Amino acid sequence: MPSLSELTPAFAARVDGLDAANASEADVAFIREAMIDHCVVVLPDQVLDGDQQARFAGLFGELDSYSKMSGEYARGMRKDLLQVSNLGEDGKPVGPNDRRRLLDMGNRFWHTDASFKHVPAHLSMLYGITVTREGGETQFADMRAAWDNLDDDRKELVEGLAAEHSSTTARRFLGFNDFHEENPAVTDRVTHDLVRTLPETGRKTLYLSSHADHIVGMPVPAGRLLLAELTEHATRPGNVFTHTWQQGDLVIWDNRCTMHRSCRYRADRETRELRRASTIAPEFAAMDAAQVTVPAWKIEAAA
Ligand code: OGA
Ligand code: MN
Repeated sequence: MPSLSELTPAFAARVDGLDAANASEADVAFIREAMIDHCVVVLPDQVLDGDQQARFAGLFGELDSYSKMSGEYARGMRKDLLQVSNLGEDGKPVGPNDRRRLLDMGNRFWHTDASFKHVPAHLSMLYGITVTREGGETQFADMRAAWDNLDDDRKELVEGLAAEHSSTTARRFLGFNDFHEENPAVTDRVTHDLVRTLPETGRKTLYLSSHADHIVGMPVPAGRLLLAELTEHATRPGNVFTHTWQQGDLVIWDNRCTMHRSCRYRADRETRELRRASTIAPEFAAMDAAQVTVPAWKIEAAA
C-alpha cells in the first residue's frame, strides 16, 4: 500500500511505496486523491524509461502533445514527452547562447505549463534522469492559498478578469525576437480567466503564468502591473515549496492550482536532465476574449 506524508502543511506531499512503471488502478486512484489536496506530489525512487513515463501519465488523462513544436526543441523525444536538458548531441553542456537553452531558461520564470494553449496542461510529471549536486531545484507556489490570502478588494477586482497568454511573452522578455519557425503553437494567443474554480473541491485558484501577456480589456501597463503584483503575492516564500532533486524522483503537479519555476545552477559544470509528460485540462479551455468586459472602476483601481 502506498503511504503519504506531507512535505509542507496543506500543500506538497510525498508518496512512498508506489512503482509508477507497474502502477495498479488502486495506485492511480491513490495519486488522484492525493493531488486533490496537495497539488504537488513527489514519488521517489522511480525507474522509468520514456515509454513507461508516458504510459503512467496516460493513466490520468489525455496527454499533451508537442508535435507542433519545432525540431529545435523536440530533441528527438516522443511527441508526448518533453526533455529538459542542458546537454547537446555530443553529450556536453550547450553554451549560454545556444537556442536549445531557451526552453530551460524560460522555465526560470514562474509559470503554469502550456497556459498559452487553448487547452492547457492539467497534471505535469517531471522525472529526474540526471540531477544537479547544487542548485537546479524546482519551486512550486500554491495558487489556492494565493487566492485565499488576497485582500477582499483585490479579490473583487480580479474576479471576472482574464489574461491573454502567448508562448512568445516570456521568450521576448529573454530577448528572443526571431520566431522564424512561424507555426501556430508558437504564435497563438489565447484568453484564460484569472480566477478559476477547481471542480473537485470548489476552491478558487489564481491562474497566472509568465506566458500571461496582459489583461484583456485593460491598458497594457496597468494589466502588466497587476499581473506582476499578483505573481509577487502568490510566490511569497511562505507560499512556496522547494523540491531538491534526487535521481529517480517523479514529481507530479497540478497546473490548475500551482505555478512553478526552476532555479539557477551551473549549467557549464553540471548535468541536468529531466523528462516531462503532461495531461491536458479540457475544463480549463480558453474563453472568447470578445466576451470579456472590464468595468471602468477596475481599470482605475488595477494599478
Ligand atoms: C517543466 C519545468 C522546471 C525545472 O518541465 O515544465 O518548468 O525545474 N521544469 O526544470
Ligand atoms: Mn514548466
